[in-house]
Amino acid sequence: MIKIENLKKSFDGHDVLKGISFEIGKGEVFALVGGSGGGKSVLLKHVAGLMRPDQGSVTVDGLEIGTAGREALRTFRERLGFLFQGGALFDSLDVYENVAFPLKEKSKLGRDAIREKVMEELENVGLTGSEHRFPSQISGGMVKRAALARALVEEPEIMLFDEPTTGLDPVTGQSILTLIDSCHQRLSFTGIIVTHEIPKVFAIVDRVVMLHDGFLKAEGTPADFSESRDPVIRAFLDG
Ligand SMILES: Nc1ncnc2c1ncn2[C@@H]1O[C@H](COP(=O)(O)OP(=O)(O)OP(=O)(O)O)[C@@H](O)[C@H]1O
Ligand SMILES: [Mg+2]
Repeated sequence: MIKIENLKKSFDGHDVLKGISFEIGKGEVFALVGGSGGGKSVLLKHVAGLMRPDQGSVTVDGLEIGTAGREALRTFRERLGFLFQGGALFDSLDVYENVAFPLKEKSKLGRDAIREKVMEELENVGLTGSEHRFPSQISGGMVKRAALARALVEEPEIMLFDEPTTGLDPVTGQSILTLIDSCHQRLSFTGIIVTHEIPKVFAIVDRVVMLHDGFLKAEGTPADFSESRDPVIRAFLDG
């Protein structure tokens, strides 16, 4: 479903992605791991069509994202949910309005239908009762959960999560991963989770892809990683 082929990207002469290739099947969830500054967020932005490759391509169901026209890209984005690193909400909107935002912008649903969907999504992420609070009035974990609800409210076919648990305590972080897993079971999206939560994330993904020095260092099942004797992978797993 998502095919990344020989993807290359540099900024100001600094080669960030030096030829990355891998494929994700429909309904699969991948973990994307690697050191800070290694190009994980850059890779996600290519999948979302927010950056264009210098060379190579990202293709989703036959649509080449980097060369797609504005209209094709717009249709594609309707199928996509993106939880950005930092999980930003709109500060001037309360939790309800934040989650309702994509539906008001993009769907043709009426007020009542939107209300029903938003309240259902807030219940799924455990935020019932907090819908009238503003981002500055809730905890970091609640902000992440609200951002997750906003990304999922349109029931996307593809979900990109950029460090969904960063900055949270271990228990809250685990609850976000569990939430992502239960959302996946409900919606069967195809997903990529960029994360440093190793090995915790292994419990909820089909495969793991590791970037190192601009290249794809390794790809395999969580078990392949856990059992690996490669020193770079071991150093990463063992912290
Ligand atoms: N728009 C941009 N313009 C210039 N350089 C950029 C841009 N976006 C990313 N970079 C550079 O690309 C490199 C990879 O950044 P990226 O954000 O993808 O790292 P990352 O793997 O997500 O790291 P982290 O785990 O810290 O989030 C960094 O050196 C960064 O400075
Ligand atoms: Mg990043």
